[in-house]
Amino acid sequence: MNSQLFSAFKLRDLHLDNRIVVSPMCQYSAEEGSATDWHLMHIGKFAVSGVGLVILEAAHVEPRGRITHGCLGLYSDDNEQALKRVISFCHKHSETAIGIQLSHAGRKGSASLPWVKRGTALTETQRAWQTIAPSAVAQTQEWPTPQPMTEADFQTVRAAHVQAVVRAARIGIELIEVNIAHGYLLHSFLSPLSNRRTDRFGGSLENRMRFPLEVFGAMRQAWPTQLPMGARITATDWITGGWTTEDAQIFSSRLKDLGCDFITASSGGTSAQQQVPLYPGHQVEFAAGIRKAVSIPTMAVGMLYDPQKAEDIIVSGAADFVALARGMLFDPHWVWYAASVLQAQVKHPVQYLRGYRSEWLRQMRRGDQTP
Ligand SMILES: Cc1cc2nc3c(=O)[nH]c(=O)nc-3n(C[C@H](O)[C@H](O)[C@H](O)COP(=O)(O)O)c2cc1C
Repeated sequence: MNSQLFSAFKLRDLHLDNRIVVSPMCQYSAEEGSATDWHLMHIGKFAVSGVGLVILEAAHVEPRGRITHGCLGLYSDDNEQALKRVISFCHKHSETAIGIQLSHAGRKGSASLPWVKRGTALTETQRAWQTIAPSAVAQTQEWPTPQPMTEADFQTVRAAHVQAVVRAARIGIELIEVNIAHGYLLHSFLSPLSNRRTDRFGGSLENRMRFPLEVFGAMRQAWPTQLPMGARITATDWITGGWTTEDAQIFSSRLKDLGCDFITASSGGTSAQQQVPLYPGHQVEFAAGIRKAVSIPTMAVGMLYDPQKAEDIIVSGAADFVALARGMLFDPHWVWYAASVLQAQVKHPVQYLRGYRSEWLRQMRRGDQTP
């Protein structure tokens, strides 16, 4: 069997062994934005898991752009050094491509750690900070109101994104995914629900796209030409009057014009009123729609775990990559399982040879009759 999921792909000069991606996952385990031993272990594990690409969690481009006090950052020399240790470690022990997501949380910043009080704002005694956003619109009534961005903020935030790109290039990161999704700062410019500005950054679709496109364009220019940069976007706010799939296709096309190499099609994140139909592959249609309308490689994400379904997504041309988040936490060697189902081969560390080659384990994992 010739699996398409396990076929190689090239994004600019970056070779990817297969189409399986570890989706970015915040670990809330950084110290003042700097990666810790947790990241070394967590990312190191995925670097030897057989995936084609690991995308590190959202690394925030300025301190007030973090979601929580524990979020990863790429805004200081200390952050850069700490992350360099993680990236160098991965490159030393594996050939898996390592990317990173760059992000600014906007009005969703200054939040509690999820395992302390998920979805709640920090209090003053917990060192809350003033967040920024396109407009003074809080995400819900329970959240503090963000400060609308000033001209100075536009400059600072644009420069912070560019500086993070420069830092990423210096420490051997091979791919960037710009976070323009999930209600975070850049997406909050796109959605009419969170952007009520009346200047050149608000109102019409063209105006709402202006700042995210400016930021993406500036980042792309600061990133080596031979390396890929893509964007994770919200393909719909899942709410009437919000950002739509048609808007998302227009936006993707504009990103492509700026040198964007792939689009990860996610959804939601702007409004607590969103109604998201949840089922395996519930966002695949967005990746497929963008791929067809814009002719750009896409990444499908969302409740993907079944290897055959992942294979079908690639074969049918719905997407070029399949990203897993929770599935990878649940099953870090999911790639071995998928390869076993699809009769493909995966690069594996020599140290793990006896596990990888165990036919009885493969059979049991596939749910075949117990040997
Ligand atoms: C622990 C955790 C942290 C996450 N952090 C991020 C993140 O940093 N950036 C992002 O765009 N999405 C983040 N996500 C969303 C995932 O990347 C993914 O899009 C989502 O979980 C759906 O995929 P899944 O069904 O395979 O989990 C996170 C998800 C989880 C479970």
